[in-house]
Amino acid sequence: MVTVTMISAMTHDRVIGATGGGIPWHLPRDGTHFRKYTNNKHMLLGRKTFDEMSGWFTNQTPLVLTSQQDYRPGIGARVGSVAEAIDFVQTSCAGELVVSGGAQVYASALPFADRLVLTIVDATVEGAAYFPDYRATATWETVSDEHFAADQDNPFAMTFIILDRVRDARNA
Ligand SMILES: NC(=O)c1ccc[n+]([C@@H]2O[C@H](COP(=O)([O-])OP(=O)(O)OC[C@H]3O[C@@H](n4cnc5c(N)ncnc54)[C@H](OP(=O)(O)O)[C@@H]3O)[C@@H](O)[C@H]2O)c1
Repeated sequence: MVTVTMISAMTHDRVIGATGGGIPWHLPRDGTHFRKYTNNKHMLLGRKTFDEMSGWFTNQTPLVLTSQQDYRPGIGARVGSVAEAIDFVQTSCAGELVVSGGAQVYASALPFADRLVLTIVDATVEGAAYFPDYRATATWETVSDEHFAADQDNPFAMTFIILDRVRDARNA
């Protein structure tokens, strides 16, 4: 069984991306958290986010979601659907797929998600990309919740939360 985790940093309004692309804040604490969580794992990324993250990957396996049949990422592999990414992880005998954005990919992957690893950033910013309204379609149980105040290196306070999908016992 493959666990599908979605990892994202967002504001309280679920803003994840800035106008023109990129992430609308610089928070080293969240960067460390993201690198630690994705260490040695398979990541699912939209082609746009993968392009933005060029040079970032060390020991992760990026699976790049694109409709372009002839697309060849320099590392990892191309996939044409979320289901194909899950099959890839299963075939690789790995246990987890970490869906890492952007907005289009989060929207496609949400129905498959077992776990959400979220950083809630205490900022008000104008957004061009949003995390889907995960509370509208499922019930989630808080596994952990850790708050950090803003400091010299991190201009906004943030809360790391982990949520697990609550499954109907009859369908689990
Ligand atoms: N705050 C965070 O945690 C976080 C994390 C990641 C990204 N972001 C931000 O999110 C923004 C980018 O999000 P985005 O929605 O514009 O782009 P994206 O999801 O990264 O990539 C979109 C591309 O992925 C491919 N794609 C998406 N869904 C697909 C599907 N179901 N089937 C086949 N291909 C599919 C398409 O590629 P083709 O056009 O090649 O077919 C599409 O153009 C940026 O601002 C980025 O910085 C934020």
